[in-house]
Amino acid sequence: MIRVLTLLAALLLASPLAAQTRLPDGSPGTSGTLPAGAPEVQAPVPEVGDGRGSGPNTQMPETTERAAPTGTPAPAAEVPRAAAPTPTTQAPAPTPFSDRNQVSAEEMELQRTLQGGRIEGRITIPDRQAASLIQPEGRDWRVFHNRTLAWTGAIGVLGMLGVLTLFYLVRGRIRLTQGWSGRTIQRFNLLERVNHWMVATCFIILALSGLNLTFGRYLLLPLFGPETFTAIAQYGKTSHNYLAFPFTLGLVVMLLLWLRDNIPNRLDWAWIKAGGGFVKDSHPAAARFNAGQKVVFWITVLGGGLVAASGYLLIFPFTVTDIAGQQWAHIVHGLLSVVMMASILGHIYVGSLGMEGAFDAMGTGQVDYNWAKEHHSLWVEQEVAKAHDTVAPADAKAAGAD
Ligand code: HEM
Repeated sequence: MIRVLTLLAALLLASPLAAQTRLPDGSPGTSGTLPAGAPEVQAPVPEVGDGRGSGPNTQMPETTERAAPTGTPAPAAEVPRAAAPTPTTQAPAPTPFSDRNQVSAEEMELQRTLQGGRIEGRITIPDRQAASLIQPEGRDWRVFHNRTLAWTGAIGVLGMLGVLTLFYLVRGRIRLTQGWSGRTIQRFNLLERVNHWMVATCFIILALSGLNLTFGRYLLLPLFGPETFTAIAQYGKTSHNYLAFPFTLGLVVMLLLWLRDNIPNRLDWAWIKAGGGFVKDSHPAAARFNAGQKVVFWITVLGGGLVAASGYLLIFPFTVTDIAGQQWAHIVHGLLSVVMMASILGHIYVGSLGMEGAFDAMGTGQVDYNWAKEHHSLWVEQEVAKAHDTVAPADAKAAGAD
């Protein structure tokens, strides 16, 4: 009799436990689907216990799709076991660009079981994004980050350096055709120069620290070892975050200062057709900025603006976008940065080594009169006319005319 009673008590105690154990393919109470449009993140660690949640929570999130059963299996007598997932064709793993691309055995197993699907769980903490355990788009993003972006960056930057070296070897430095005149004309005032160098300094540090995020692991880590590389990467990341702000401010000031002189017009087309004076020793007419400089200007303010905007989305994740938006922000940020780095390399070349007399414009602010006439003939005419008007205003009357 006592034995029978003990057995009954054991069965009674076991039944609530069995009721709490959810089947992986969704028995009552395990629907756990997110509200439509709920953001998803890539496999965050679920919080349990008294973290940010509304109270103690010792229940692990439950999967709602064909997830492989995990944890210690409940006794067979009490919990009906789900049929073992039928093996499916293995999801093709991306060819590794590096060891970062290698998919672990557990992940391959999981991918096989899921057939490329996503896993969402049910959570009790307020952070709805934590309910997404696996989102397959993350794999595409990882391939982009580790392979596409790395190759695009390498080809863009090294390719441009190669083109510039070749151009220098073939064409040489563009010299002043009429030599130095010894007289100068003011090209950029102090505000324009200070702002230019602020944008340039920020850009160079942003570019180097950004390149470190993609290539540092391969180039600097073997060179300096883990400790030094960690320090470099940490300083780089901090600078990358903070310099975004003065860089953006500089872009706004640049836009206000130079917008008027950078509106495209018919003259630009003639300048482009003449090869901008780069191919032959010709000097097509140009106003304050020629077509090439206008391209640099628009790449800087529009490209830089988009790089900055997408960068803010990355600095403050999930404030405006969901996980898909975050991934897009990263793709835009990475690809546009490569375009900017390649273009700015060309700009730095022309503004320093490539063209005699150009650097002074941003150095002292004064350029040689002959340089100005050769490269910006219409601008010189306008400046001379303005100076005349200042010395002798058009409505000035000759002395004693009254
Ligand atoms: C060490 C690097 C750099 C050097 C030596 C340099 C040099 C110059 C020079 C000499 C000019 C005046 C050209 C003229 O008188 O017509 C100029 C203008 C300009 N720079 Fe730079 N620059 C550098 C970096 C940058 C960077 C990083 C940016 C943007 C991210 C930038 C954006 C501009 C823009 C928009 C202009 C006006 C348009 C133009 O002249 O192309 N510069 N720069």
